[in-house]
Amino acid sequence: MTEPTLDLEDIQGNLLRGYHMPLALHIAFALDQVPAARRLIGRLAGLGANGLPQVSTAALWQDRPSCAINLGLTYAGLQKLGLPQAVLQRFPPSFAQGPAWPDRARALGDTGISDPQHWELGSPGDPAVHLLLSINARLQSRLDELAADLCKAFFDAGASEVWRRQAEALPQDRVHFGYRDGIAQPRIRGVDERRIGAAQSSRNDAQPEAPAGDFLLGRRYVNSYGGNFLGDLPPALGDNATYGAFRVLRQDAAAFERVLQRNARRWKIDNPEWLAAKMMGRWRSGAPLVRDPDRDPGSRPELDGDTINDFDYAPGRQDEQRYDDARGLRCPAGAHIRRLNPRGGMAMGQPHTRRIVRRAMPYGPEYVAGDGQYLDDGVDRGLLGYFLCGDLAMQFEFLQSVWANQDLSACGLRGTRDPILGAHPAEGGRFVIRTDDRRDPIVITDLPRLVSTRGALYCLLPGIGGLRHLASLT
Ligand code: HEM
Repeated sequence: MTEPTLDLEDIQGNLLRGYHMPLALHIAFALDQVPAARRLIGRLAGLGANGLPQVSTAALWQDRPSCAINLGLTYAGLQKLGLPQAVLQRFPPSFAQGPAWPDRARALGDTGISDPQHWELGSPGDPAVHLLLSINARLQSRLDELAADLCKAFFDAGASEVWRRQAEALPQDRVHFGYRDGIAQPRIRGVDERRIGAAQSSRNDAQPEAPAGDFLLGRRYVNSYGGNFLGDLPPALGDNATYGAFRVLRQDAAAFERVLQRNARRWKIDNPEWLAAKMMGRWRSGAPLVRDPDRDPGSRPELDGDTINDFDYAPGRQDEQRYDDARGLRCPAGAHIRRLNPRGGMAMGQPHTRRIVRRAMPYGPEYVAGDGQYLDDGVDRGLLGYFLCGDLAMQFEFLQSVWANQDLSACGLRGTRDPILGAHPAEGGRFVIRTDDRRDPIVITDLPRLVSTRGALYCLLPGIGGLRHLASLT
């Protein structure tokens, strides 16, 4: 089947390319004066002569810009802007109800300290968020200037700021816990990554391209299941839109380091880094365990292009030059990257499906251990941003609730959750490392909850045409 040409000038830019800018500021607004809010959304989407910055698209860049802005709307926002009830009821329940909906929050692992009632964003007790403005910039001065201009425009349109947080890249694309991030992202069929400047464009990838319909709503797009995630939504609103699960995730860096130290001692492992690699599926340098199970080859430029993402866990007979790790002796079946993207492994249903685009960055300062003591420093740090997909229930929620948090009946997974992300029980979570079929596995049994949810929203990120459609509502 030929893939439709993507309308790059209509699709919001953050779906198809990471901006590679070190700063991202997200500001949540409640809209009050509806006609003024509609006009402002229209102006940001290029309607009328106006001096405001424009929503960034995936259109080819002549020069890389110094900043980018994107808009997401919650279900409450679409309701507020006056989308007719007949249209609102065609949205999938996951989006309409949102991540704080009690049954959903439980399934996603948002219980205990992650319970929505403690959230700083999207908590049921707080004023409804209607719109999420995201600004990426290379320089703090540019970010401040843009945020001031845009906030003034929103205030003039009767909106009030409900929440804001800034994320900042750490050196070498690391996230808290010290791993390099931003390596594996789906390559989307029909997107010329080199031309739009996507980061992964220079990397080999053993996985097939994902159909555009897995990420984009639209009449012309077909998803991995042969369907189309636009459903019954009007194309004027939905064409070229995507859904974003926005998450504010706090990370307990001291507890993570203590897990490594404690279990290295207990299991007589010389190098705690080996344990860190087993939990993630990559060394902290980014090198994948399937290729280098015993020793970190470090971060080498040649590793990036050729090998850093060019692997599978069960490559199949047609691909015999790749190492077959179907039994999980190199990369544990329960490692974060393997649970959340089993690649060709037939973990559940079709291989190479349920993929998501990750646009999250760290917030808060790096954790510094003092004198080999991994003490809590009380500092708030974590990861913040969007997980983008065409269907929140089938993609983001499936990853978070089933792959990260369910007790899957597969070898090495029984009785465990994602070691990094899992909502581990109070008595301690389990993680199984099997390296040799003849020896008993290492079984870690004392994992605390390392990542907790501090806030969440589900947003629709319409195309430029969809934003203009919202502006034209009466
Ligand atoms: C604070 C929380 C998190 C941390 C510290 C974290 C860290 C990482 C790191 C270091 C990687 C490897 C780098 C790469 O492959 O690009 C990765 C990959 C990945 N993560 Fe997370 N992550 C977090 C939350 C999540 C969440 C909430 C999801 C989705 C529900 C998720 C889904 C994925 C996926 C799909 C991959 C790529 C796997 C692959 O294709 O090989 N992560 N994560």
